Amino acid sequence: MAEKGRTQAVSMTGSAPCKTVLVGVTGCIAAYKTCEIVRLLQKAGVRVKVVMTEHATEFVGPTTFRALTHETVAVGLFDDPSDPIHHVSLAQEADAFLIAPCTANVIAKIANGLADDLLTTTALATTSPLIVAPAMNVNMYENGATRYNIGKLHIRGVRIVEAGDGYLACGDVGRGRLAEPADIVSAVLEELGVRRDLSGRHVMITAGPTIEPIDPVRYITNHSSGKTGYAVARAAALRGADVTLVSGPVSLPAPEGVRVVRVRTAREMLAAASESFAATDIGVFAAAVADMRPKETASRKLKKGTADADLGTIELVENPDILATLAAGKRDGQVVVGFAAETDDVVANAQKKLATKHADLIVGNEVGEGRAFGTDDNEVWFVSAEETYDLPLMSKDRLADEILDRAVQFLG
Ligand code: C5P
Repeated sequence: MAEKGRTQAVSMTGSAPCKTVLVGVTGCIAAYKTCEIVRLLQKAGVRVKVVMTEHATEFVGPTTFRALTHETVAVGLFDDPSDPIHHVSLAQEADAFLIAPCTANVIAKIANGLADDLLTTTALATTSPLIVAPAMNVNMYENGATRYNIGKLHIRGVRIVEAGDGYLACGDVGRGRLAEPADIVSAVLEELGVRRDLSGRHVMITAGPTIEPIDPVRYITNHSSGKTGYAVARAAALRGADVTLVSGPVSLPAPEGVRVVRVRTAREMLAAASESFAATDIGVFAAAVADMRPKETASRKLKKGTADADLGTIELVENPDILATLAAGKRDGQVVVGFAAETDDVVANAQKKLATKHADLIVGNEVGEGRAFGTDDNEVWFVSAEETYDLPLMSKDRLADEILDRAVQFLG
């Protein structure tokens, strides 16, 4: 690698993206509210899997949760013949396990370590934070047995999102109503250690390569995998931002809770990014935009040896610079992050780009020889008007949080 600048300790406390929350549903009329909880978790950038008790399926069908989560929904201990220890794999996959609504019966079981179905067995097998949101009739909720069991869970470190007061499905009025879905989701995100410092903020990210057609079959492009931009989008969503991801063609799945606008060419990317930029608090321009495109795009495949094709010569014209164009018109308070992928003189080039592209921060990195493109980690410099420093080698997920941490400082 090129010689490094000043080394500065970097915070490694950012929220790790791509969290999976296992949501347990038990047999209670409030089970329909779990659909809203699942949606809110997804909006927060979380991947959700659902496990249900048999009784829960009497209230909401597994198909509903399968459609919402695009994941298989687990019910029986032995339903999955390919995975005879399903409770262990589910437990291991989960960064947190939420049971909402949780009946008095299931509270009693997990308080005493009973494990007679998939949900309770998974609860016993998990080492991740367990969050329980009870819902039941007021008398069941106030019953000494239930209070005692909830107390036991609390002492064991289980997070209890207590039920609220109100009208209950049975006609009684009192405590026992499932807590508000938003409050339950806040508790889960807290247990996951996710900071919500971008709540109410708009973040736009460009990501991936662009492709510039020569004819209907051929095009000019580059090696960008889109991983960094997608990681920033995922992290921003988890931190509470409203996220728009303008993406060139990549083979990555859309991050949860992110609005994805798919484009192909640089000019399409500029049009899509322009639409979102005005409302953006933070713009992260991670796309590897093709610098040039063929002047003409042939409507038919160019054939060698024919009059319509001189395959040795393709006339190129320059593409618009999306970052420089949009950042030139940025308003006060908008933060712009650009990238400099260089084979040589990373820092000097990044410093030059800071000014020419009107960016607040340039993330510089070396490319070539297996570095950066398509890999899962990266070693970069942060270059701003105030300072230049390098960060240690880290995953692109972690880097995404570092970029957002720095952008938040610029927001003030
Ligand atoms: O000039 P260079 O391509 O090295 O600049 C890299 C930075 O500028 C990246 O942030 C990239 O997303 C952005 N860029 C752009 N439009 C272009 C070329 C680069 O937004 N046409």
